Amino acid sequence: MQKPFVLFLGYYPPAMLVLGIETSCDETGVALYDTEAGLLEHRLHSQVDLHARYGGVVPELASRDHCRRLVPLVEEVMADAGMLPGDLHGVAYTAGPGLIGALMVGATFAASYAAAAGLPAVPVHHMEAHLLAPLLEAEPPEFPFVALLVSGGHTLLVDVAGIGRYTVLGTTLDDAAGEAFDKTAKLLELGYPGGPALAALAERGDAAAFTFPRPLTRRPGLDFSFSGLKTAVLVEARRLREAGAWDEGARADMAASFEAAVVETLVIKCRRALETAGRGRLVVAGGVGANRRLRESLVADVSARGGRVYFPRPEFCTDNGAMIALAGALRLAQSGDQPRIVARARWSLEELPAVAA
Ligand code: KG4
Ligand code: ZN
Repeated sequence: MQKPFVLFLGYYPPAMLVLGIETSCDETGVALYDTEAGLLEHRLHSQVDLHARYGGVVPELASRDHCRRLVPLVEEVMADAGMLPGDLHGVAYTAGPGLIGALMVGATFAASYAAAAGLPAVPVHHMEAHLLAPLLEAEPPEFPFVALLVSGGHTLLVDVAGIGRYTVLGTTLDDAAGEAFDKTAKLLELGYPGGPALAALAERGDAAAFTFPRPLTRRPGLDFSFSGLKTAVLVEARRLREAGAWDEGARADMAASFEAAVVETLVIKCRRALETAGRGRLVVAGGVGANRRLRESLVADVSARGGRVYFPRPEFCTDNGAMIALAGALRLAQSGDQPRIVARARWSLEELPAVAA
């Protein structure tokens, strides 16, 4: 990635090594990021199996599992990188938004680890980390850009003038895009988490079989609404069941048609956001950013207009420690020396302070 500091008279600031901790929902992520050498190590423990039989994340179980996993994962990452706590310059952790109990586990662990090693603890905004995640890739985007953040909890279009210089252009009025995938997957009798399962079923279906709405695309504006789309699928599913036509083929066609509706809606809104903000670069991040059809459709649409789309690799679209370590490294100078325990279930991106370029 680009060196984040202005250099003069041949003086190179020392590399900063940051440990990143992610515990905002159902993944425990730990990573080590070096401002010169890039990402050194990262590990992820997914709680998918733990929550699968409940059909969604159970907050208390999530908190307890983060407690169990954090120490061994951190020990593994540090040992594999050949690092000791004294080699670090800071410990970054997700301070929000997210599940408050899960956040508290990560925040308390990170602040304690930092205090024991005499290091600053850096609270990181989870959505800022998602939108900066493409900076982990070999060809990172330059600022400014528009970011589409599509996860299980958020659907946001953000104009990004620089680090901490964010203007929210649009958001969802009801369900998040990932939530719409998950709820529709449930209607289609697919397992949890629904997004990847629905996308896999859609590969075998006909996207033109059903015409589902493209919500809020016909009127101006950059907000989203996905709950009506989910209802349209529900109504169609009932009709098919009553007609005795609820088979594997029909479900695959519904999955493909639903996915096409979400993808087309997101493509239309991204095009509009780039035009409104006068930007050529689009960053796509968050779990739904791993969706193959969405990636292909956005690349086709944006490049046809002379722009360019940047994604993190699919494993860094979903929650991970690498993006937290990176965002923490970029905000290290602002963190102060006192380890702080910050956990906020709700937190707007627009509240973040800017970081000088
Ligand atoms: O960013 P993320 O890991 O966690 C949150 O912060 O929410 O996003 C998880 C969401 C889930 O709703 C999941 O179903 C969705 O991302 N997702 C997908 C795909 N992979 C993950 N949705 C559609 N297609 C995918 N391939
Ligand atoms: Zn996330």
